[in-house]
This record gives sequence, C-alpha cells and structure tokens, in this order.
Amino acid sequence: MPEYVEFQLEGKCVRLPIIEGTAGEKAIDISTLREQTGYITLDSGYGNTGSCESDITFIDGEQGILRYRGIPIEELAEKSSFVETAYLLMFGHLPTGTELHQFSKLLTENELIHEDMKYHFEGFPSNAHPMAILSSMINASGCFQPQMLAAHSRRTFDLHAARLVSQVRTIAAFAYRKSHGLPIIYPKPIYKYSANFLHMMFSEPYCDYELKPEVVRALDLIFILHADHEQNCSTSTVRMVASSRASLFAGAAAGVCALWGPLHGGANQAVLEMLKKIYEDGDDGTKFIAAAKDKKSKNRLMGFGHRVYKNYDPRARIIKQRCHELLDALKIDDPLLEIALNLEKAALTDPYFVERKLYPNVDFYSGIIMQAIGIPVEMFTVIFAIGRMPGWIANYRETIEDRNSRIYRPRQIYQGSPLRHYVPIADRETK
Ligand code: ACO
Repeated sequence: MPEYVEFQLEGKCVRLPIIEGTAGEKAIDISTLREQTGYITLDSGYGNTGSCESDITFIDGEQGILRYRGIPIEELAEKSSFVETAYLLMFGHLPTGTELHQFSKLLTENELIHEDMKYHFEGFPSNAHPMAILSSMINASGCFQPQMLAAHSRRTFDLHAARLVSQVRTIAAFAYRKSHGLPIIYPKPIYKYSANFLHMMFSEPYCDYELKPEVVRALDLIFILHADHEQNCSTSTVRMVASSRASLFAGAAAGVCALWGPLHGGANQAVLEMLKKIYEDGDDGTKFIAAAKDKKSKNRLMGFGHRVYKNYDPRARIIKQRCHELLDALKIDDPLLEIALNLEKAALTDPYFVERKLYPNVDFYSGIIMQAIGIPVEMFTVIFAIGRMPGWIANYRETIEDRNSRIYRPRQIYQGSPLRHYVPIADRETK
C-alpha cells in the first residue's frame, strides 16, 4: 500500500498521507488539504468522511460484519450479558470475574436517581414522548453531579459513567410510569440489569411482575445488539458534544435527541406502526412495497436500508432468529411477524431493493420482540437508547482522551447571496 497520495491541483503538487486501519480499511488523511491548497472537501451526509480513528467498534458493511472491541456480535449475543458487553465497550477488554462483580456492584449501588429528581417528572404533560423526558432527565441528572462539570479524573469519569448506564433504565422506567399515570416502582438490588428494568416497568406496588427467563434474555439481547455501532448519527453527536468538553451527561442527552429521529433509532417505532397499518389496510405488503419504491410518495420501507450495511445487517439476522424463538416460547401468534416475513421476502427479490443493496436492518424485527415483551411502541426508541449508552460513553471517553482531538468544527461551502447591504425597513419593497 502506498504511504501517501499525490496529485496536481492548480499546478501545485499536493501530498496527503494514507492511513490503514487494523482490518485493512484505507483512508486519505486530508487534515492538511486546506493548508496546502485552500480547498476543503464536500461530503454531504459524511458518507466518505472518517471523523476519527477509533478502537471501539468495527463494521464491514459490505460483508455484514460487526465487532465490539474485536469480538464478533454473534459471539457476544450468544455468550455475553449486557452488563459484561457494556464493560467490554467502556473499558476495552472482557472483565475478569472480579472486575465484572465490581462493575455490577457499582451499577446496583447507583441504580436510584436522586430523590429530588422525581419532582421533575411531574412537570411533563402526561402525553410527553418518553424520549423527550429521557433526554431532559439525563441532562438534569448532570445537575446533581456538579463535580462532573469540572476536569475529569479517570475515577470520577468511571463512577459517573456507571451511574449513567445504571440510571438511564431507572429514568426510562419512571418516564413510562409517569406517562401512564402509574406509581413509580423503585429498582430492586437483587435483580440483574434487564430484569430490574422489567420490574420497574411492569411491577405494581402490591404485586411483583413475573420475570420470565426467556423475556429477560430477549431484552438483554436487544440491549447487547444496540450497545454500539461506531460513528452513526447519535454517536457522532455525542462525540461532537464531547469535543467541546461539555459534560458526559450533556453528551448523552444530545445522543438521545439525535437517536429519536425516524431515520435513526426512531425507525423501530416506525416499523411497528408501518406493519400495523399494512395489517389494518388488509394489505399483504404488496401495496406498501410499491409505494416505498415510488419516488413521488414519502413512504419508505422502514427497517430497510442502512448507510453502512450493503448486506444483511448481522444484528437483524440474530434478532429475527430470537423473535421466532420468543414468540414460540410465549405461544404468541403475531400476524405482524407474518407481514414482516412477507415484506422481507418480497423486498429481497425486488430489483429496486436488490440494486440499491437495501436489506433489513436491526429495527426490522426488534419491534416485534418488544411488542411481545409488552413494551409499548413509544418506548421502543428508549430501549435503543438504554442499550446504546455504553457505546456513547466509550466514544465520549475516546474523544476526550485523544491527545490530538480538537473541537469538531466542519466547514461549509457558502452558496448564499453575495455581498449586499442593509436596507432600512421603510425602503424595502413589499412583496
Ligand atoms: N425504502 C425505500 N427506498 C429506500 C429505503 C427504504 N427504506 N432506503 C433507501 N432507499 C432508497 C433511496 O430512496 C435512494 O434511492 P435513489 O438512489 O433512487 O434516490 C437509495 O435507496 C439510497 O438511499 P439513501 O437515502 O441515499 O441512503 P442513506 O444511506 O442516506 O440512508 C437510511 C440510509 C436513512 C437508513 C435509509 O435507508 C432509510 O431511510 N431507511 C428507512 C429508515 C430506517 O430503517 N432507519 C434505521 C436505520 S438503522 C439505525 O439507525 C439503527
């Protein structure tokens, strides 16, 4: 591989270094391009832009590969737990027994939010979207950790990171209870991570929710599969905030906001709504697929397509399998699964989707599992956010610990009006 690329621009020889990643990915380092030439690069949607070098997650979108810290997602899905995977992402290695025990203990010790925060929930209207509550409350929880706003020592950071991983599920469950007019259920230290979340969501003050192992495992799997996905929209947002050295809580709250959109994490909610609509319209998916291909229609086949995967999303493969297993175990016959399978089959043989390399992504089947667990549709993206927290934290930390990291500040090509002068209001023409 050459060490640099050379080209001529306006009669000048420009030389830019080539960087290679551990899996052979290649990049041209353009950081001196403007200095050498006065030019910048323009890359709408950043499809060709590497914003950082990272040790956290590897994706090969052409081959459908996803690895956290080098470990294939399939192995983690089969053998790991969410808490262990969170540790792996945040600290870079699989924990020893002692490390895992200490980390789990830290999560348990920090599972309660500050009691005063309970009153903040009262201020939201009862129909507030839980993603709005989640981002606001994560940011508000930063106010209860003022030391976080000061310089970060590793110890303080680790403590606050654990707090965030633990409390995001408490806040999420409280948001759900509040939006349904239900009394808040406090976490129970005897329960593990995912079981505790289900307990806070579904127990009643007079009766504990019955924890079914297959349901707990399915939720844990969903968290594992969502735990990181390199430089996606929300993670890049977190890194953007980190680059300004705003607090971890501010970064995580911004990540939740970016995740909310239907083209990103909000797609899981959009998929279930799409499947329900197809079902209610008595369509088998044929009409919907035709509309999704029609450029005049605003419809897209939600849960299909991905900026990076030009092959089957490996998470979708795992989740589809678990979806069948869970519905069988719970003896649920869901017509929406049938519709999803039909849509997938039709799309995978349709030239429109084949030519554009559009395959099911992680959101295509996750909603059906969440519905089977009893999680309401408006909480789907919140579940994604809980799972993504370790990834956001790992990326935040990588940004602030990178000695070469500068504040993220892209440039633009201005296409607006050339210089013109201020006109007093009396002299302006009315339109
Ligand atoms: N249904 C129909 N057509 C689609 C779809 C879809 N789901 N996705 C992409 N296309 C088409 C586009 O119209 C475009 O066609 P054209 O070349 O004729 O103009 C082509 O495929 C490329 O699409 P882009 O929008 O340019 O691809 P991009 O990489 O920008 O977008 C995205 C990726 C946002 C995921 C897109 O595929 C999409 O909107 N999918 C549906 C929403 C979704 O499932 N999002 C979840 C993503 S995974 C995640 O965030 C966890």
